[in-house]
Amino acid sequence: MKTVFNAAASLDGFIADEDNSLEWLFQLGDPEDTEFNRFFEQVGAIAMGATTYQWIYDHQVSTSDDPSEAWPYKMPVWVFSNRKLPRIENRDIRFVSGSVEPVHDAMCREAGGNIRWIVGGGDLAVQFYDAGLLDEIIITVASVTLGGGVPFFPRRTDMPLKLLSVKQYGRAFAELRYEIQYVNPSTAVKNQ
Ligand SMILES: NC(=O)c1ccc[n+]([C@@H]2O[C@H](COP(=O)([O-])OP(=O)(O)OC[C@H]3O[C@@H](n4cnc5c(N)ncnc54)[C@H](OP(=O)(O)O)[C@@H]3O)[C@@H](O)[C@H]2O)c1
Repeated sequence: MKTVFNAAASLDGFIADEDNSLEWLFQLGDPEDTEFNRFFEQVGAIAMGATTYQWIYDHQVSTSDDPSEAWPYKMPVWVFSNRKLPRIENRDIRFVSGSVEPVHDAMCREAGGNIRWIVGGGDLAVQFYDAGLLDEIIITVASVTLGGGVPFFPRRTDMPLKLLSVKQYGRAFAELRYEIQYVNPSTAVKNQ
């Protein structure tokens, strides 16, 4: 199975606006009405950065009467951070820092035959790519421009991408799927 960076972005390539808000995305409809639900059913392990975790915590968890239930993931989640983040009881959330390789090994063990989902942000996804551990990118492009914010990728990588599919969902979303074709076979998929 694969390790996939799957995220939604504005037409001009931002995954969050300057306030780290996703309101611009949700006002267009539910991006989960796309292929995302089918993708999510196959996910067995998740990795995300501290900012993404904190956003979910602030907007979905801390505002709920039942924080454990409000946490959206039943599968194990690795959160990369160098600071102390708020914990959520009775949920399999593992706080880690440093190299992505040992985390990826653990994700492969836990996910079994299921997908390892890199939620984001883009810098974390690039760390998996740099380690030769990212297999696919799925970007759901939303029909909105933001002019600034958090970019899909924070720097140039020259990733060798092969476009696998393009699908339209309603009037607001276009999903593009890419396979990463590592040039050097020694850094190709190590994660079957
Ligand atoms: N549109 C979408 O589909 C989508 C998807 C995902 C996220 N988002 C949004 O996009 C924004 C993401 O922001 P972002 O890309 O700046 O943040 P991010 O990846 O969520 O978090 C960045 C932070 O993660 C920690 N980190 C990353 N790699 C690490 C490593 N190897 N070791 C230790 N810590 C590491 C660092 O935290 P420390 O500060 O602890 O050092 C770093 O500052 C958020 O607002 C999020 O809600 C949108």
